[in-house]
Amino acid sequence: MTSERRYYLTTPIYYVNDKPHIGHAYTSLAADVLARWKRMSGYQVHFLTGTDEHGQKVEKAAEARGMDPQAFTDQVSQAFRDLAARMNYSNDDFIRTTEERHKRACTALWKRLEERGEIYLGHYEGWYAVRDEAFYGPDEITEKDGQKFAPTGAPVEWVREPSYFFRLAAWQDRLLAFYDEHPDFIMPQTRRNEVISFVKSGLTDLSISRTSFKWGVKVPGDEAHVMYVWLDALTNYITALGYPDENADLWRFWPADVHFVGKDIVRFHAIYWPAFLMAAGLPVPRRVFAHGWWTNEGQKISKSVGNVIDPVALVEQYGLDPVRFFLLREVPFGNDGDFSRKSLIQRLNSELANDLGNLAQRTLSLIQRNCDGHLPAAGASDPADAELLDAVSALPERVEEALSRQAFHEALERIQSVSRLGNSWIDAQKPWSLKKTDLERMASVLRHLHTALRALATVLQPFMPDTMTRMLDQLGVPAEARDLAALATPLPDGTALPPPSPLFQKIQDEPA
Ligand code: MSP
Repeated sequence: MTSERRYYLTTPIYYVNDKPHIGHAYTSLAADVLARWKRMSGYQVHFLTGTDEHGQKVEKAAEARGMDPQAFTDQVSQAFRDLAARMNYSNDDFIRTTEERHKRACTALWKRLEERGEIYLGHYEGWYAVRDEAFYGPDEITEKDGQKFAPTGAPVEWVREPSYFFRLAAWQDRLLAFYDEHPDFIMPQTRRNEVISFVKSGLTDLSISRTSFKWGVKVPGDEAHVMYVWLDALTNYITALGYPDENADLWRFWPADVHFVGKDIVRFHAIYWPAFLMAAGLPVPRRVFAHGWWTNEGQKISKSVGNVIDPVALVEQYGLDPVRFFLLREVPFGNDGDFSRKSLIQRLNSELANDLGNLAQRTLSLIQRNCDGHLPAAGASDPADAELLDAVSALPERVEEALSRQAFHEALERIQSVSRLGNSWIDAQKPWSLKKTDLERMASVLRHLHTALRALATVLQPFMPDTMTRMLDQLGVPAEARDLAALATPLPDGTALPPPSPLFQKIQDEPA
């Protein structure tokens, strides 16, 4: 198996200080769609998600609930596992940083960095934000009402303690050279520019251990220290492939093809992580893609405002696949976006129920009624056919091209344009009238529409797996003929099709 047929993608591992919300569901959804697409394209895929369970933030959250941190993390981690199942994510593994395999990997990575002279013991004195689990420079701090804040809005506290340091400053030029040689390492471009200017403004060595709390992986040889939670957390991406055992079967998936992250955690993934890896002599991931943040009806989402969006409630109300579709369709991946019920309802009604749903329903009902429920054969070709058939045959490649840039919204727009074309084509060809005038042409028209629907359902599977399974069932496509390669082989004429039933429900507008 050649290396280009393997694909490794990851989500961030989620903090277990609180229950899952829309932001968590969103990052994982994008990764899930790409994982499914790659599998369908014949790749061996490894898709990883999990939970980030160490650090002061989690320790404090457990304390606030009067719980032992391990019992607390067991409970919250399970909520993230349940969310993954509820959202139909196809992750191949779910990692927890409190697992033994992970402690082993962190310890090994630490030792390797130490052996290579990348770690030294010193003192840390500076600003730390527990909420971000991040250190900030003095020039980044602002003050309001006597309280100091990080640029993220998180309160910071002055920390002074003995600490191990990673020689990050020494990696500045090599990082800049790396970004230069790999223009697609950080996407989108805006994030890449931010990272580069941050690195150019000068890196300082990074404090990578803490002594003021206990909930973490112990530093080998100096157990008064626990590892800085971001060093611990980032290592999860290699733990899951068997590190430090580079003969492990899964190790062939390294380096990762894409780490999906939110824009708030780009710095860790695009600066610290490649520096740690280069310093350890390990290959660096191919891409870090940072998506934007959702607001709720124009407002910043926050627990104190009480406008947190619960993905499970949303799915209960509107259905899983419509929600999966909407989240990736509404906002260009990489941009910030606003969640509004009105636009959700509009999109579901117009794009799913009207465009795709109606096209399927009209075509399949006509085949049921006029062709005795059997797939008609195409007759002589007509100059009008190319308009539809060319767009259909180009579709998989056009979707691939968009997804190779993580442009989920563009992939969906390209799919949508074929579904709109199908509707205008059926209106122009009028197969319902041809029944009386030209049976052979009617059969051809329905056959071509069936071909279009099969392609649409096939490429939409990663976005809406359950609904597209039903659609492919209705189209009479056997289970083994649902990947991209199978599209090259037409279904046999005369294939029996079950009676159709609607795929999408129209949603009534809610009172404002
Ligand atoms: N534990 C770290 C990641 C470690 S990865 C080695 C962490 N966890 S988190 O639970 O706080 O956040 C996880 C993801 O949720 C981030 O990618 C973040 O961007 C995303 N989101 C949190 N709120 C969000 C929105 N309102 N909108 C979109 N995504 C957001 O960070």
